Amino acid sequence: MHHFDYKNGVLHAEGVDLNAIAREVGTPVYVYSSATLERHYRVFKEAVGEKSHVFYAVKANGNLGVLMTLAKLGAGADTVSEGEIRKALAAGIPASRIVFSGVGKSADELAFAVEAGIYQVNVESEGELEVLSKIAEARGKRQAIVLRLNPEIGAGGHAKITTGGAANKFGVSLGEAERLYIRAANMPGVAIKGLALHIGSQIFDFAALEAAFRRMRALIEKLAAQGLPASRLDFGGGVGVPYEIGYPFDYGTDSLQTYGKMVREVTQGLDLEFGFEPGRVIAGNAGLLLTKVLYLNERADKTFVVVDAAMNDLLRPAMYEAHHEIWPVRQSTGTKRAYDVVGPICESSDTFATARELPELKPDDLVAIMTAGAYGASMSSTYNQRLLVPEVLVKDGEFAITRPRQTFEELLGTDRAPGWLA
Ligand code: LLP
Repeated sequence: MHHFDYKNGVLHAEGVDLNAIAREVGTPVYVYSSATLERHYRVFKEAVGEKSHVFYAVKANGNLGVLMTLAKLGAGADTVSEGEIRKALAAGIPASRIVFSGVGKSADELAFAVEAGIYQVNVESEGELEVLSKIAEARGKRQAIVLRLNPEIGAGGHAKITTGGAANKFGVSLGEAERLYIRAANMPGVAIKGLALHIGSQIFDFAALEAAFRRMRALIEKLAAQGLPASRLDFGGGVGVPYEIGYPFDYGTDSLQTYGKMVREVTQGLDLEFGFEPGRVIAGNAGLLLTKVLYLNERADKTFVVVDAAMNDLLRPAMYEAHHEIWPVRQSTGTKRAYDVVGPICESSDTFATARELPELKPDDLVAIMTAGAYGASMSSTYNQRLLVPEVLVKDGEFAITRPRQTFEELLGTDRAPGWLA
């Protein structure tokens, strides 16, 4: 059951020796496990009920191989840009299983979504409602929508990923939701189906989620009493995963049973279509970032281990002070030392771990930065003119490069000299 595990003292991904991937693809490289993705999708789907729609949040990991793996299981997609809609379609997720969220969808993006015939637009403001209705009407269509509610309850692993609070930019306010719902019901280009919310990410406080879900349900019931029955509720994503994992690996799906039970309680007696937008809980523990030790820099009071991955490849520690386990690829029972694990980028925030107890490391050793499958590659950049790292998908002892390492031609080839300097 452990898809990342040591075999003969060497870390493997579904039976593939990580040394072999490093040899063939080089480092740094993201490695994803198909079996983990599949398992998490199934466990989630079972927890929230087989009849529910699971719209995987593409932003967590939009790699084509990852999306195709989930598409094959029947997953839908939660998208936040035209690029994500296109990516989902390219992976074989039909438009009829795509929802489009986000506070700032442009008119062009909305037109693209309407023309593609997507399942649902999660509308976040009155302005967006007006623009969308006009766009759809002009095309002789009525776009199915839900209103994203700001329930004034936020939660999440970090202030920067909390979205449901009154101070956060997301959704329409509780006070305005009823008026906007009625307004939407009278617009020619939209068909209002219900409500949506998403209060934050990396959430273990299911009481906060439950309270928000209850607010959404109360509003749905109030509207139904006025002759505006809803047919859909979208509960967003947000379920947390453990980052401080021990060995053997804990994939963190136990919490899904608790989550599913809570959802069943909150939705008791409602005969509606339910949608969910999980990202991290599907992809987080399905990926690792494989990186190589370049140098040790010994100081009087500490030792820096400089690896070849950097904050541009995995931004989470720098951006959210996020903890990621670091596992040596060669298992060791020897004495441990405290290391600061850092990347090559020219700023001090390029730090993956501080005073981390690890077995003795030396140049050329490989280490795996764990739980990097969600918001890893998808948040990467070319800062310091570093090449985007490759992504590899493993399945049953085989692996495929689902995104090759960017080349210097690609990196330099997109820039253009201004005419007056050419
Ligand atoms: N639905 C909506 C509307 C969202 O905004 C998000 C994530 C999700 C679903 C998926 O949430 P999840 O199940 O993954 O928690 N970069 C941050 C996380 C940002 C989450 C943004 N929204 C991180 O690395 O922790």
